[in-house]
Amino acid sequence: MKITYLIISILTGICFLTSCESNFIRFEDEGTYVTDTTSPIDLVSFQTAIVPIIQNNCASCHFAGTNPDLESPGMYDVIINHSYINLGDPENSGLLILPDPGHADDYLTGTEHTLIITWIEQGALNN
Ligand code: HEC
Repeated sequence: MKITYLIISILTGICFLTSCESNFIRFEDEGTYVTDTTSPIDLVSFQTAIVPIIQNNCASCHFAGTNPDLESPGMYDVIINHSYINLGDPENSGLLILPDPGHADDYLTGTEHTLIITWIEQGALNN
């Protein structure tokens, strides 16, 4: 029995030691700095994350030809031109609180709402 415990302890120790991630800046060879290309923060992409949310949840009513047009690919300009973004207070952005607070949230999940807020907090970029 003792030997079983010993083996289990050693195996657990090995797993524990090998599971650590190393965060060292690595050098290919002495003096060559390898650039870290990973993004420090995950930027929410307007084109790939926000446009589909709005098209799927808002365009059934706000389709092309209506005002605001939240269906066409050019919806970034629509959002900006209507001053629907409040960078200083994202939760109070017109996109989410016009014509009355809760309007957009009737059609958004909590996750979608949060993603839109994060996108605004990051500067509401056309990225
Ligand atoms: C079921 C239909 C419907 C859906 C879905 C819908 N809306 Fe609307 N929305 C309306 C109507 C109708 C108005 C106009 C109300 C008014 O002018 O009093 C409006 C008005 C607005 C306005 C104010 C327009 C302005 O400039 O005065 C904004 C902003 C808006 N909606 C955003 C959204 C967003 C964002 C979504 C999706 C998350 C969405 N709406 C989904 C029907 C809808």
